[in-house]
Amino acid sequence: MSADWTELYRPRSLSKVLGNPKAVEEMRRWADSWEGGGPTKRALVLMGPPGTGKTSAALALAEERGWGAVEMNSSDQRSGDIIREVALRGSYSNTFSDSGEYLSTDTGGRKVIILDEADSLFGREDKGAVPAIVELVKKTLQPVILIVNDFYALSRKSSSIKTHTLQVKFYRPRASQTVPLLAAIARDQGIGFDEGALHAIAENSEGDIRAAVRDLQSLASGRERLTVDDVQHLSERSSRSDMFGLMAAVLRGSDPAKARRAMSEVDETPETVILWMDENMPRDYREPGDLMRGYERLSRADIYLGRVRRRQYYGFWAYASAMMSFGLNEARHGKPAARERFRFPSYLMSMSRSKSSRAMKNALAAKVGRHCHRSASQSRQDILPSLSLMMRHSLPLRSSMAKSLELDAEELAFLLDSPVDSEEVKSALSEAPVEQKQQPAAAKRKEEPRPQRNLFEF
Ligand SMILES: Nc1ncnc2c1ncn2[C@@H]1O[C@H](COP(=O)(O)OP(=O)(O)OP(=O)(O)O)[C@@H](O)[C@H]1O
Ligand SMILES: [Mg+2]
Repeated sequence: MSADWTELYRPRSLSKVLGNPKAVEEMRRWADSWEGGGPTKRALVLMGPPGTGKTSAALALAEERGWGAVEMNSSDQRSGDIIREVALRGSYSNTFSDSGEYLSTDTGGRKVIILDEADSLFGREDKGAVPAIVELVKKTLQPVILIVNDFYALSRKSSSIKTHTLQVKFYRPRASQTVPLLAAIARDQGIGFDEGALHAIAENSEGDIRAAVRDLQSLASGRERLTVDDVQHLSERSSRSDMFGLMAAVLRGSDPAKARRAMSEVDETPETVILWMDENMPRDYREPGDLMRGYERLSRADIYLGRVRRRQYYGFWAYASAMMSFGLNEARHGKPAARERFRFPSYLMSMSRSKSSRAMKNALAAKVGRHCHRSASQSRQDILPSLSLMMRHSLPLRSSMAKSLELDAEELAFLLDSPVDSEEVKSALSEAPVEQKQQPAAAKRKEEPRPQRNLFEF
């Protein structure tokens, strides 16, 4: 469960790239023209929204053709000099190694040069990058793939990039196209699902397949089955689109007053807004100073919200809202990262995940409380933790509690922190056969080996 599913299930061949058959076909034809020796356009531009498979498709093409790949992405220092060094000089000669050393034609095969996130490169201070890329797309002796989200921003900087490249568009797939991929991943992970749950995830991702796969992983963690209920909050569409607008105005916008207006228009309490900010601000604010100021304002807002809760004085909401909108916007002095799609707060996701366990805990607390003449909240706080600990260590106590509280298998499993079908649960129930529904467990035990003894029985 711990591996990143977006990496694990990255399409490794062009035929597995979902939802963009036309783009894939154009990429294949372009590669054919290179192999035929006379490409009309030496460089390809893959353009389209985040998470639609551009990087994956470029790598898959290289793999399919047996071409090596030299990748330069935004984490590299991509000044004009470095592009010249690695890509240009290498691409003039026929072949070169992964690190950009030049090989004679007989030792090395063809290498495709992939300049990922090429549009973010154009925003940089280093003006040398643009001429270096223009030169690259005009003269390269090796295939070049530029990957961008916004081609128009890039072509405005230089019209020769437009004339010297073949542009291929990637589109967002429809939800119905994304669902089969999510289903295949869930099956591979042994997770059951309602079709509707996967549909809600796909809908919510708005064509960003990376986001859909990521949400699936996060929602499925700790579950054996994903139901429509589990993903319910994802379908609260209207408030979500408001939230995305607010995030954009606060974290990526340049006008603090506009950020404040967006905050006042959003139909969510500051309690919810702070969760969104907390999730997304650190992904967008990359400069240490921005992050520090951002957290200062967020923590201040949190203090106000705490005071609202304690004193029930809602006047403080105004201060918290100002800190989270105006304040957070003003905290960023550097450029926003502005690449990723905003994320749904993981805290809310995990709350919905733990909803059933919280409900179980409350029901048990009430039951135990009735038995001990205590309120449910006293029982939850003072009795349940020690009862659970004692029951884990003592079989006789386990059985007698199961009997006197008339616990069923699920309640016992919760108290013992063990699976419902574990020996601990079964043995406690079989010693305390009070109800009909416990009979099958007792009957089943006869065919099974002796329960494992725990440490305290030795
Ligand atoms: N067309 C697709 N088919 C299958 N999986 C996909 C597709 N697009 C994206 N994914 C999933 O999303 C992940 C990210 O995709 P990829 O890096 O190719 O997107 P991208 O278009 O390059 O996005 P960005 O513009 O943010 O770089 C993949 O590892 C894969 O799990
Ligand atoms: Mg990419």
